[in-house]
Amino acid sequence: MRDYLASTTKVPPFGPTNAAIMGVGEAPGGEEIDHNPPRPFVGKSGQLLGNQSGRAGIPKRKMFLTNLSPLRPKGNKFVRLIGNEELTFGLEALKEDILRVNPKVIIAFGGWPMYYLTGQCGLKNNKPNPGSGILARRGSVYENTLVEGGPKVLCTLHPAYVYRTPKVKPFFVHDLGRAKEESLFRDIRYPPYELLVDPPDIDVLVTEAMQSEWISFDIETFGPGEMSCFGFTFDGKRAIVLTFQNPYAWQWAKQVFECQAKKIAQYGTYDCMFLEFFYGWKKTNFAHDTYIGAANLEPGFPKGLDFLTSINTTFAFYKEERKEWKKTGDYHTLWDYNAKDVISTWITAMTQMEEIRELYG
Ligand code: URA
Repeated sequence: MRDYLASTTKVPPFGPTNAAIMGVGEAPGGEEIDHNPPRPFVGKSGQLLGNQSGRAGIPKRKMFLTNLSPLRPKGNKFVRLIGNEELTFGLEALKEDILRVNPKVIIAFGGWPMYYLTGQCGLKNNKPNPGSGILARRGSVYENTLVEGGPKVLCTLHPAYVYRTPKVKPFFVHDLGRAKEESLFRDIRYPPYELLVDPPDIDVLVTEAMQSEWISFDIETFGPGEMSCFGFTFDGKRAIVLTFQNPYAWQWAKQVFECQAKKIAQYGTYDCMFLEFFYGWKKTNFAHDTYIGAANLEPGFPKGLDFLTSINTTFAFYKEERKEWKKTGDYHTLWDYNAKDVISTWITAMTQMEEIRELYG
């Protein structure tokens, strides 16, 4: 037996071959090997998965469960399998199973399944760092890169991690609930929005914005005192981004910022202080801050827009796109990033306001 393996027992996939949801873990653990017959996700993490998926409305028995590798690495250390034939074999078998079962959605449990199924990972020193980045990307749906044109992939935490870190359990349940929704259709549905950068009919749009009930806005800056763009939406569908490249941009932006419509922003204290201090614009009718909304509704949960986006919208994690702009200098990336912030803040605010109404009447 290879010295990096804990056992030569192979754990085959298990579950209905007509399942709408497939779950993919890393590799079996000891309990999966010892089960008679060997079966994926029957140990502690499998039990947690069963309980939590039941809560989310997807019974475990309805999922087709498998792993990247059917063999257990020593010390349950998945990295020991990388570059070895067991993983190559496992990935080939996984491809065949994906084609055979053809689920509507695949759940990637943890950073390695996310990497092998979607190519997504975190960055270290600005370079891709395979296996990392799942905490930021959980809740995101991506295209399948293992099987071209194959079922979309929803990334979430590994149940063993959830077992060791109980505070993340609600996010895990949320993602499983999302998997249930995603299993009803095959395509990837990110929030649709139209990006309008310095549009020629800005006068018409600003007039419409000033007459609307709500405006969600966000600024990007080049550093202290210098705004690169002011983005806003007043319908959650069109993101209007006014940029420093347009000499009239700030005139229009000021009108939007100072009008009577109720304003929404994520941690708007910063944006308002910046605009008042450096540009002299007056904060007017600032009515809903999604950061404060999050602190009120779920005090123990993260409050950053990246997390709120993963819970309230169907956007995939996009917060690294700002780094992308810094690397390439392509302004379009920055304007689109700003647009996503504005739309995500709008969707989050509407969800929070609904929750507040339900709670407090
Ligand atoms: N962890 C996994 O990744 N897979 C299993 O089957 C069990 C635990």
